[in-house]
Amino acid sequence: MQTIQRILSGVRPTGDIHLGNYLGAIRNWVKLQEISRERLFCIVDMHALTTSDDAHNLANNTRTVAAAYIACGINPDTSAIFAQSQVPAHLELAWILSCITPLGWLNRMTQFKDKAGSDREKAFLGLYSYPVLMAADILIYNATHVPVGDDQKQHVELARDIAGAFNRHYQTETFILPEPHIIGTATRVMSLRDGSKKMSKSDLSDYSRINLMDDPDAIVLKIKKSKTDSDPIPEKFEDLGSRVEAKNLITIYATLTDQSCDAACAQFSGQTFSTLKNQLADALVNVLSPIREKMHFLLNEKSELDKILKVGAEKANDLAVPHLKEIRKIIGIL
Ligand code: ADP
Ligand code: TRP
Repeated sequence: MQTIQRILSGVRPTGDIHLGNYLGAIRNWVKLQEISRERLFCIVDMHALTTSDDAHNLANNTRTVAAAYIACGINPDTSAIFAQSQVPAHLELAWILSCITPLGWLNRMTQFKDKAGSDREKAFLGLYSYPVLMAADILIYNATHVPVGDDQKQHVELARDIAGAFNRHYQTETFILPEPHIIGTATRVMSLRDGSKKMSKSDLSDYSRINLMDDPDAIVLKIKKSKTDSDPIPEKFEDLGSRVEAKNLITIYATLTDQSCDAACAQFSGQTFSTLKNQLADALVNVLSPIREKMHFLLNEKSELDKILKVGAEKANDLAVPHLKEIRKIIGIL
């Protein structure tokens, strides 16, 4: 079995943590615990500043994401769970890396193009340099693997390019080139209202996503209202063709029940979406109810959560501080 050296990943504490975050990222982190030597799971609160309008909620949103990590199965005793802002080395390294990152590379980032909207002149510098801070998050620990959803592949590849650029510029081998680790069947969970859009915390419609904190009634209602078409379900997944909403529901069901999309299609073949929706809602309630209950429990124990984040930050700082010292020496800082 493959052994992975060091994993790092993160989620932005910007709103309701959802099924896409779970199936695309956190569920994979839980599985990777068994085959990796070291793991760091960050709550990227500094990144949240680039898009969040509700900064006053940042501390609580950070705790909620920490609670979600633990409730989903990340063990805080064997992995470091911490807030990015509690390890200042991320920010110092981001500046150092920004001095060797060509603008042309940043101009290619599709997330910036999507988030900046049509009036780029009004976009903030932090949103533009977001991928450099993400590169610093990864490179400060020399993480070898970065498990993320499909939408973050470009950012991790940029981190790899920046690591290479630094090594060449300073003729050193200080940075390991990190790899995006994109696994599982649900690498891109789509909106329940529009199968061409990614399920996201920033979608204005709460009906577009299943939140990890949704109760069973909300889950059943959202699945019932989710967009589908009127054709029956075929035997094979590929025969769904361009029926994006149908593909999304089958993919979610297959992932939750640990089977292939073809097997899930075969299970519902010839039937209508109401049968699939009923079983999908049941599967979601089964998987998410214990997570929701544990999150509520943890969020009532704020001081315990804060302690976990403190211990996590200590572990992270223990790795980051000596590496930053080495980097400062390489670039010749007094
Ligand atoms: P959001 O885009 O909802 O704000 P984040 O940007 O904080 O979420 O993403 C955190 C992690 O969850 C990343 O690894 C990202 O790739 C993954 N992720 C986010 N949305 C989805 C989705 N719809 N499908 C699969 N993975 C996703
Ligand atoms: N940019 C990632 C996202 O939007 C979040 C993130 C920040 C991240 N730093 C990271 C993910 C480092 C993996 C590794 O989802």
